[in-house]
Amino acid sequence: MNAPNCAQVLAAAQTLGLDRLDAQLLLLHALGKPGDARAWLLAHDTDVLPQQAAENFRAVCLRRVAGEPLAYIVGEKEFFGLALRVDARVLVPRPDTETLVEWALECLRAPGVPAAPSVLDLGTGSGAIALAIAHSLQADGRQGKVTAVDASADALEVARGNAARLGLKLDFIESHWLEKVGGHFHLIVSNPPYIASADPHLEALAYEPLAALAAGEDGLDDIRAIARQAPDSLLPGGWLLLEHGYDQAEAVCALLAREGFVQVQNRLDLAGIARCSGGLWPGG
Ligand SMILES: C[S@@+](CC[C@H](N)C(=O)[O-])C[C@H]1O[C@@H](n2cnc3c(N)ncnc32)[C@H](O)[C@@H]1O
Repeated sequence: MNAPNCAQVLAAAQTLGLDRLDAQLLLLHALGKPGDARAWLLAHDTDVLPQQAAENFRAVCLRRVAGEPLAYIVGEKEFFGLALRVDARVLVPRPDTETLVEWALECLRAPGVPAAPSVLDLGTGSGAIALAIAHSLQADGRQGKVTAVDASADALEVARGNAARLGLKLDFIESHWLEKVGGHFHLIVSNPPYIASADPHLEALAYEPLAALAAGEDGLDDIRAIARQAPDSLLPGGWLLLEHGYDQAEAVCALLAREGFVQVQNRLDLAGIARCSGGLWPGG
C-alpha cells in the first residue's frame, strides 16, 4: 500500500474513536507543528506523511484512545490566554477555572485595593491561577506580589518552569495549605481537590494526580482546612475565593459563614452552575 497522506491518517484516527479536533492536534504534534497550525493541515491534506511522523501519530493516537489527556500528550494547555506546559505531575487546567480568575480580578480591581496587592494561590499545580492573575496585574500596569503554594514539589517545579517561560515573577512555597505561609494577603484563591474519594468519576481522571483531585469522604476535607486556616492570613476586607464541585455550593457557603466570612456568595461556571464560592474576611 502507498504511504498514506494527512487526510487518510486523520480518517483512520477517527475510526479508532478519536474526535476530529483531537486527531488534528495530535497530527500537528506528530509533525512537530504548533497546535494553532490547523489551517496548514487543510492546505496539505494530500501531502504524504513521512514514515516517522506516521509512526509517531499512531503512537499518540493510541495513548489518547486509552484515555490520556490530550494536554499531557502535546505537553501544553492554554489557560486564560497563557500557554502553560503541563505533564502528569499536575492537573490539566480546566476552562471553568477561568471563572475563579475573573472573580479574583474583580476583587483586585475593587476600590480600596492597593495598586500592588498581595495574592495567594493555594494548590497552584501548573501555576495556572497564580500566573493568570500575575499576568493580568502586569497588563493593568500594577505590580502586586503573587505567591503560589503547593504540597507537591513536583507540581511546584512545573509551575516554576511556566513562570520562567512566561517571564512572570511569582513566589513559591512548598506547604500543606497555609502551614508554612507567613504574612497577610488581600486575596486568597484556591482550586483545591474537591472530589469525594469514592466518586466513580475519579476513574475517568486516572491519568491526573489523585492528590490534586480527591478530598475525603464528602470531597470537602481540603476546603474545610483552607476555610479554617485562611482568616489568620487574610487582611481585614480580604477575600477567600474557592472553586468546588457542581453540588457543593450550599455546603461551601455554609462553612464559610460558620468560619466568620461575610458577604458569602457564588459565581457560575460556563455551564451556569455555581462552581465558585467566596466570602470577605471582616477582620477580628
Ligand atoms: C485541583 S488541583 C488545582 C491545580 C491548579 N490550581 C488548577 O486550577 O489547575 C489541586 C492542587 O492542590 C494541591 N494540593 C493538594 N493537597 C494540598 C495540600 N494539602 N496543600 C497544598 N496543596 C495541595 C495539589 O498538589 C494540586 O496541585
